[in-house]
Amino acid sequence: MGAEKRWLFTLFAAALFSVLLLLLLTSVSSFSSPKPFPSIVQHGAHYPPAFAYYISGGRGDGDRILRLLLSVYHPRNRYLLHLAVEASDEERRRLAASVRAVPAIRAFGNVDLVGKPDRLTYMGSSNIASTLHAAAIMLRMDGGWNWFITLSAMDYPLLTQDDLSHVFSSVSREANFIDYTSDLGWKEAQRFQPIVVDPALYLARRSQIFHATEKRKTPDAFKVFTGSPWMILSRSFLEFCILGWDNLPRILLMYFTNVVLSQEGYFHSVVCNSPEFMNTTVNSDLRYMIWDNPPKMEPLFLNSSDFDQIVQSGAAFARQFHKDDPVLNMVDAKILKRGRYQAVPGAWCSGRRGWMMDPCSQWGDVNVLKPGPQAKKFEESITNLLDDWNSHTNQCK
Ligand SMILES: *[C@@H]1O[C@H](CO)[C@@H](O)[C@H](O)[C@H]1NC(C)=O
Ligand SMILES: *[C@@H]1O[C@H](CO)[C@@H](O)[C@H](O)[C@H]1NC(C)=O
Repeated sequence: MGAEKRWLFTLFAAALFSVLLLLLLTSVSSFSSPKPFPSIVQHGAHYPPAFAYYISGGRGDGDRILRLLLSVYHPRNRYLLHLAVEASDEERRRLAASVRAVPAIRAFGNVDLVGKPDRLTYMGSSNIASTLHAAAIMLRMDGGWNWFITLSAMDYPLLTQDDLSHVFSSVSREANFIDYTSDLGWKEAQRFQPIVVDPALYLARRSQIFHATEKRKTPDAFKVFTGSPWMILSRSFLEFCILGWDNLPRILLMYFTNVVLSQEGYFHSVVCNSPEFMNTTVNSDLRYMIWDNPPKMEPLFLNSSDFDQIVQSGAAFARQFHKDDPVLNMVDAKILKRGRYQAVPGAWCSGRRGWMMDPCSQWGDVNVLKPGPQAKKFEESITNLLDDWNSHTNQCK
């Protein structure tokens, strides 16, 4: 641009700006009723709790991750998406572009995609490294969230974020929802005594975990716990795991490096071996799953025949689902009231509702909640769990 053109451009921009300012001022003075203004996210003890979601998937999971993100989206929360290293850069770019295309996400800037993805081995300890990585990023990027929630691309929520935040408003912010047991059963011989190595931790090419010929004793310096790899962990517990100066989280990390499916034991063992956190455990992962008999590695895929049970379960999330299974459309229509490619509506959405209209393309105060009917069911299950919790009788047993 030449000097003269630049000057003209500046003049033009200044003129346009004053016209806009004038329009804005006249509209403000002519309608003194509140207009939509950029709402400021407020966090802290006097505001509803917020969540940090870590959503991970593999190659080809981009579309599912986007759908899941929209179904759990709220401007007050934080989101980190992870597409494993096998996904192409093109897929990663496509996901990033679709995320940016959502007006609220662009405005609130609360969704990130891991740009340098982790290498993961099925059943290997690289999965814990990746979860700790995500929690570390979210602790660093956002001081406002209260709980960290792990989801896979095959999961789906059974309530709105207004429901979740409303019910969690009456839960101690120290609580950790984690399903665990110290009754190891067959797992003692098959999970804790074998020694395995996860090649993703040191080899650049993909391969599988391998077993050492030696076995080792079950630990007696600490008690091992095992349970569901899906959890809702408090901010203070993750600060203890990642930033704390107690060495327990690191010692257990080194032990669990060579345990099969260590993501089903690491956090469980850390929380239950720390005197300051063992009383914070609520023994549930708040997920709905149906297991085959005898159970396989993963729960059964849920479908529309399971819808009524899913709704009655009182869980916050369910797994697992096939991509775009019709039952997900039922959850969208009947529970989330969410349109295709739209964020799950909440009290923050102030746009008009209608065919092809996204109520969440405009917003008002994002710090208020409007729980829906599904909050009742969820509240009942939380109340039952907290009754057990307050008795402190069964914790970490
Ligand atoms: C945890 O609960 C047990 C049983 O009520 C109690 O004895 C213990 O002092 C509690 N620990 C902490 C750190 O509050
Ligand atoms: C749902 O899955 C079960 C097996 O898990 C199957 O028996 C049933 O036919 C499926 N229903 C539909 C509607 O696909």
